[in-house]
Amino acid sequence: DAVDSAPAIVVGSGYGGAVAALRLGQAGIRTLVLEMGRLWNTPGADGKVFCSTANPDRRSMWFRTRTEAPLATFLWLDVVNKDISPYPGVLDRVRFADMSVFLGRGVGGGSLVNGGMAVTPLQSYFAEQFPAVDVTEMYSTYFPRARAMLGVNSIDPAWFESTEWYRFSRVSRKHAANTGLKTTFVPNVYDFGHMQREAAGTATRSALGQEVIYGNNHGKRSLDKTYLASALGTGNVTLHTMEKVKSVSRAGDGTWVLTADRFDDTGAVVETKQYGCTYLFLGAGSLGTSELLVRARETGTLPALDASVGAGWGPNGNVMLGRANHLWDTVGANQSTMPVMGIDDWANTANPVFAEIAPLPTGLEHWVSLYLAITKNPQRASFTYDSATGGVKLGWTAAQSAVSMRMAKKLFDRINSANSTIYRYDLFGSADKVFADDFTYHPLGGCVLGKATDNYGRVKGYSKLYVTDGSLVPGNIGVNPFVTITALAERTMARVLAEDTAP
Ligand code: FDA
Repeated sequence: DAVDSAPAIVVGSGYGGAVAALRLGQAGIRTLVLEMGRLWNTPGADGKVFCSTANPDRRSMWFRTRTEAPLATFLWLDVVNKDISPYPGVLDRVRFADMSVFLGRGVGGGSLVNGGMAVTPLQSYFAEQFPAVDVTEMYSTYFPRARAMLGVNSIDPAWFESTEWYRFSRVSRKHAANTGLKTTFVPNVYDFGHMQREAAGTATRSALGQEVIYGNNHGKRSLDKTYLASALGTGNVTLHTMEKVKSVSRAGDGTWVLTADRFDDTGAVVETKQYGCTYLFLGAGSLGTSELLVRARETGTLPALDASVGAGWGPNGNVMLGRANHLWDTVGANQSTMPVMGIDDWANTANPVFAEIAPLPTGLEHWVSLYLAITKNPQRASFTYDSATGGVKLGWTAAQSAVSMRMAKKLFDRINSANSTIYRYDLFGSADKVFADDFTYHPLGGCVLGKATDNYGRVKGYSKLYVTDGSLVPGNIGVNPFVTITALAERTMARVLAEDTAP
């Protein structure tokens, strides 16, 4: 096979991969980005690039015959999910034994499907999770750099108070206040100017048109519009899509050798390619990077990888739940898909929880207050190699999820009690399932900073091999994670370009 080589290769084009690509390109280093998903820039027959949550088609999910949205049912009816034809759609749900993980697939990774909440973690908790990182430098240099590059902005508070589109947030805020709990505004990468024009009827609706987990056609500053656009603009960065890296090994001369399957829209492999590079950056996400490195260690292609590769994984304590409101507490038929507020009870050391007030945009009044709670669950799990399939297993158990569930329940029992309300029993597939603690939007860890890597993401046991994605974060960060992942990647790239790549 002909070997296609470049000085640097980046695997994956989510937050970690996008930061690496831009900073390498700006440093004048020719870089190839390999991404297993599609480039989402071509409109379908309906004139749109992405489909909405209300009307999912083949573009919605990664090679499925039926969508697998987080909400299984609504009013106990199987009305949420729809049959679709298999296609490299934008949202994936990877199912392990007791935990399933939602992921973005495509150029931009999770930024294509996420809620855009751009939250900087509490400095004290960041310091607790990353004891060896200089927090002053993080909060004065890398977090501000990440927020500026990502295009983070905040909702106009006056508009928030007046618009029907955030009535659902105001109702949840009132119920939190009745409980003596604090709420806080949360910034976002969705352009709030665009959103206000959507509300005014002068821009095409996206956040106000039920678009989010299957992609936003307008308004969202996803990575393909920020970091990746700038990376390609350097002229030094090339992107290959629909190519999945399978293996990583090291040639006799110390360069990296990768094999990747290129596949077509049916999922059939049309070519297996070989790539070579001097510097290898892994940005395949917590699952992708952990899998590549665990496989490399266990199959012997990179035997010197540390024993902690694959360990330290957690779901950021995620629990989704719904509360049933009183008839007079309407949440509104019209709901923006971009969350802008959270209940912040993290300072409660007995039961730290940060709960995002999530929309449930169905186009009709349903009296549901929906939340994605992030709990301080200390449990962690490991990925192990499965020689039968060549993939990895995740050791996370239902008992470990129950730790998150109990923390979320403690907080929301208080809210229900203060407001004389109850949970919703019709959302997660069976009437005894009130808390969805078996899926996560925030997979974190597997190649933890300072354990599997040095303090800057250089993988232990090898030189010129780096991790820049969510696998560096030790299982929990207390808030939605992409700002943290981006800022840590900026910190890694500043150090690596200063110390490792100088001629
Ligand atoms: P990320 O998953 O973004 O990127 C990895 C990329 O690598 C993907 O494009 C993947 O296809 C590719 N890849 C993987 N393996 C590969 C291989 N072997 N070869 C080639 N390519 C490969 N966070 C937040 O802060 N605020 C929010 O509001 C939300 N909301 C939210 C909603 C939903 C529905 C989801 C699924 C997630 C969120 N998140 C979120 C989480 C956030 O999106 C997530 O933490 C980041 O995308 C993780 O960034 P990474 O760079 O680690 O990987």
